[in-house]
Amino acid sequence: MSRKFFIKTFGCQMNEYDSNRISDLVKKNGYIKTEDLNDTDCYILNTCHIREKATEKVYHDIGRLKKKYRHKKKPLVLITGCVAQAENDEMLKREKYIDAVIGPQSYQNIPKVINDLESKIKQVNFTDFDVIEKFDELNTLENSNSKVSSFITIQEGCDKFCSFCVVPYTRGAEYSRSPEEIINEAKQLVLNGAKEIVLLGQNVNAYNFKTEENFFKLSNLINRLNKIEGIKRIRYTTSHPKDMTEDLINCYKNVNKLMPFLHLPVQSGSNKILKKMNRKYTREKYLSIIKKMREILPNMEFSSDFIVGYPGETDKDFEDTLDLIKKVNFVNSFSFIYNKRPGTPASNFQSIDEKLQKKRLIIIQSLLQKIQKRKNMKSIRKIKKVLIENRLKNQKNFFGRTIDLTPVIVEAKDQDIGNVIDVEITASNHNGLYGFKKNLKKEVAA
Ligand code: SAM
Ligand code: SF4
Ligand code: F3S
Repeated sequence: MSRKFFIKTFGCQMNEYDSNRISDLVKKNGYIKTEDLNDTDCYILNTCHIREKATEKVYHDIGRLKKKYRHKKKPLVLITGCVAQAENDEMLKREKYIDAVIGPQSYQNIPKVINDLESKIKQVNFTDFDVIEKFDELNTLENSNSKVSSFITIQEGCDKFCSFCVVPYTRGAEYSRSPEEIINEAKQLVLNGAKEIVLLGQNVNAYNFKTEENFFKLSNLINRLNKIEGIKRIRYTTSHPKDMTEDLINCYKNVNKLMPFLHLPVQSGSNKILKKMNRKYTREKYLSIIKKMREILPNMEFSSDFIVGYPGETDKDFEDTLDLIKKVNFVNSFSFIYNKRPGTPASNFQSIDEKLQKKRLIIIQSLLQKIQKRKNMKSIRKIKKVLIENRLKNQKNFFGRTIDLTPVIVEAKDQDIGNVIDVEITASNHNGLYGFKKNLKKEVAA
């Protein structure tokens, strides 16, 4: 009988992508994937280190696993991702139930780790940074995890060192994969049924591959992907405002598959705080990027990430952030209370009052929600182009997204999965839209 593996993912889209690739690797060892946590031979937790709570969740999950398997054969327990990288040996010491910690640049070693553990070799630590070897190995695998909307990691790591962030320490220096590898992977995903390609990187717009003659940038890659038949939509995330170069902005003029939507985290609208965060741009620079892009595409929408209650943030600084939100009219955004991360420069700064942080989070979230709700309401009775991704579990309706990533629940047909269809919007809330496929009644009657 085949052995089974269970994988749980925390954190960003890059971790989701990695989990799919880890699954491909574990299958090489003869394991099959299970969704049943009560019956697994190998338990993998792909972790995130961005906030303190994310780390604590890992130990809670292992505690629960231990209870479940108290009277059964213990599964192999592998910890991957950014907590594994940041805490490595500490994790093995703190929790003896863990068999291996494997950092994001060492996933190519997973088949060997599992073989070693099956041969009863003691706890294993693989947390070296070897990004080239990692992608060399992963390129030999077929990416078998295509969905209608599929991710491709094109760039890893970060050289920006924002004062609050752990990513440069957990994912290492910036590294760009070769265009050929990426194009081949995109073609493979299309063969498996992908219609939308989302290019991923911690700093995706810092993508820069050195060829013999020159540099191949994100704008070049987008142009190449645009030519692949079968791809209907192209997106990329997450971008840093400092790397929104002219060539990339100009793609919005003539690359027809590039969606008029950009996630461009600003973090704060105050120049004083941006400087203290080491973000390397000003609010004026940020607003000028938005203006330039909306001049090219008036229907261009933006989403963002915000950190509230950063050390030194005064009422005036916070007001500047609210003002910037109103100026840009962001959609689909995320906001977080500043969380002190050990080892980062900001961890030495004086924190501000916790109650004030919480109050500001409520204010910013209600403003973002209000804008989103207003925008969603404006869509009622309009026709929206929606890429249908899947049928909702146990329901007759389908899930899709508009060009600006707004989720839509749609009455449609199974044949519509993978197609961009016209949807008549009938209702909305702050989370998304509801509607039906235009002419559905005629199709059903026919
Ligand atoms: N590279 C992206 C950028 O430059 O904006 C962000 C990547 S990070 C994985 C995602 C988001 O987590 C950030 O945009 C930031 O808002 C949030 N974040 C990172 N460190 C944080 C911290 N120490 N406390 C609170 N939020 C944090
Ligand atoms: Fe973190 Fe800043 Fe790098 Fe984004 S750019 S991953 S926030 S250090
Ligand atoms: Fe978390 Fe690592 Fe992503 S810290 S957000 S999983 S890069």
